[in-house]
Amino acid sequence: MSDNEHTYLLEVDRVSQSYGTEKVLRDISFEMDRGDVTVLVGPSGSGKSTMLRCVNRLTEIDSGNIYLDGERITGPDVDVNELRKEVGMVFQDFNLFAHLTARQNIMLGPRRVLGLDKEEAGKRADEHLEMVGLTPQADSYPGELSGGQQQRVGIARALAMEPKLMLFDEPTSALDPELIGEVLEVMRDLADRGMTMLVVTHEMSFAREVASEMLFLDGGKIVERGPPEQLFDRPEEDRTASFLRRITEMHS
Ligand SMILES: Nc1ncnc2c1ncn2[C@@H]1O[C@H](COP(=O)(O)OP(=O)(O)OP(=O)(O)O)[C@@H](O)[C@H]1O
Ligand SMILES: [Mg+2]
Repeated sequence: MSDNEHTYLLEVDRVSQSYGTEKVLRDISFEMDRGDVTVLVGPSGSGKSTMLRCVNRLTEIDSGNIYLDGERITGPDVDVNELRKEVGMVFQDFNLFAHLTARQNIMLGPRRVLGLDKEEAGKRADEHLEMVGLTPQADSYPGELSGGQQQRVGIARALAMEPKLMLFDEPTSALDPELIGEVLEVMRDLADRGMTMLVVTHEMSFAREVASEMLFLDGGKIVERGPPEQLFDRPEEDRTASFLRRITEMHS
């Protein structure tokens, strides 16, 4: 940890990662406080997904350290299953079990991983279904739900583990445009409730409204970081300005 006074919820400290000879992350450092929403943006291949994957150990880093709530979560001595109870992840494709209802999908983690009994897990599922506005769809199967509804189940499923940190990797990229809003609304609500969220997204109006900080990644490096007003309205780097202009035009 960088100092004794303050424990960050997430601290990424000089992390580098490569696939074979390809360097993907180069000396990345950033921190998040509890309740922060950090939005990661950057061109395709810049390392955004890799960065998220390093935080829940789906990808191993070459050097540096990552700390969650003051505990180091990188290195061979860390219990990865324990870590993943604390870090929820939502992907672009929802990966729900097709043969389970929304409610059963959400109950699975609390039952299998946290060992809750059926009743407790059901109660948790119901709370989180309500949070994402899907109480009426509790007993529907994924195939009976829209993409936006499926993704909201995906979010509820991650939340039902009561994680300390939520990772979102382009959660709306697979959705038809008319379904994006309902997912962003759930994420905004989650941010308002104080969840700490590390989000990769191309939805720049969401970033501008909700992010406490934005990180612009290019070539595996943080080119610029700061509050959204800085990156959008008075970026220090030309690359930030041209990237954000391009992405805002493409997605508006
Ligand atoms: N499993 C893997 N094996 C080898 N190389 C990989 C693997 N995953 C990613 N890469 C490479 O690492 C680099 C960064 O990929 P990453 O998926 O992190 O980028 P990204 O910023 O998320 O891009 P996108 O916007 O397209 O999702 C790319 O060059 C990619 O080809
Ligand atoms: Mg990606």
